[in-house]
Amino acid sequence: MAGVGHYVPERVMTNADFEQILDTTDEWIVSRTGMHERHIARADESTSDMALVAARMAIERAGCAPTAIGCVIVATVTPDYVFPATASVLAAKLGIKGTAAFDIEIACSGFIYGLTVASSLIQSGVYERVLLVGSEKLSSITNYTDRGTAVLFGDGAGAVVLEAADRNDFLASDLGTDGSDPSLLLVPAGGTVAPLTAEALATGQNKMVMKGREVFRFAVTKMIEATDATLRKAGLSRGDISYVIPHQANRRIIDAAAKQLEMLGEKVVITVDRYGNTSSASIPIALSETYAAGKLHDGDVIVFVGFGGGLSWGAVAWRWSART
Ligand code: ACO
Repeated sequence: MAGVGHYVPERVMTNADFEQILDTTDEWIVSRTGMHERHIARADESTSDMALVAARMAIERAGCAPTAIGCVIVATVTPDYVFPATASVLAAKLGIKGTAAFDIEIACSGFIYGLTVASSLIQSGVYERVLLVGSEKLSSITNYTDRGTAVLFGDGAGAVVLEAADRNDFLASDLGTDGSDPSLLLVPAGGTVAPLTAEALATGQNKMVMKGREVFRFAVTKMIEATDATLRKAGLSRGDISYVIPHQANRRIIDAAAKQLEMLGEKVVITVDRYGNTSSASIPIALSETYAAGKLHDGDVIVFVGFGGGLSWGAVAWRWSART
């Protein structure tokens, strides 16, 4: 990858803060999720604002001008607007006029899907340089009166710049969805099925609802299946993996999947304790931090694996080579 970057808002919301507003405890949150704190965006800070900071870091590390970017992709479920695409707003903020730009909306699997699409655009030669950002202001769709979901989510952004020289680093991916029961994890109102009426607003139907136990079971199973399917396609085995960078939804989900994948602790990147679940931003944030810590070496095989609303899931196997 030519460059990686990330951003989290300044304001930190701790478990102790939740103890003040909900019937919950630090002990419950830590033991059930592994989360200690998460970052929350300012009211005037949009998804594209956060994406901009992460993107600038990735572009600077790539050592290119923003105008060298041929295509901008933003993965998000919390866009600035229903339309225009947050990617086109971001492109304008980066000062790139006329570039291709579009959003991917597949919840927490957004970065995995985005990396597959961006890599395909590079491999096919359609673009020489693609900026991919996962950016989420989940606090805008979190119901802070529901203890079952409120404690789980945070805000932030992560970005990568892919170049033609990365063509062979994308080894394989495996993507999937099962949309047969949207009620498992969704924002009920605000779309064409249930418009944003006064009643919908009053009853919190414009915020996330989730059947946590069902999503938990699905998540562990799909992380393992997607990882193994991707390795098979890449002609690799579990023993070839240098790092797993999983979607950060719950420490227990990550630990359960890692155990079944027989991954040693230090091979699995964890940020959920500090950032909570930032949906499509969680994997690129974790990647950027791992890079900044100097832990990535040329030739390392990284498996990115995620799951989320859709229900959706996916994994990408990537051979790391730093061009930054
Ligand atoms: N504090 C205290 N008690 C709580 C809290 C809380 N914050 N939240 C729930 N509880 C209670 C419940 O009310 C329940 O009480 P009861 O037994 O009296 O009914 C009890 O704790 C157990 O509830 P469960 O839901 O069974 O708890 P569980 O161990 O499953 O943990 C959790 C809940 C953390 C939500 C877990 O199920 C989970 O992580 N699920 C997956 C979430 C996820 O990965 N989402 C993914 C994507 S998000 C996206 O795509 C945007």
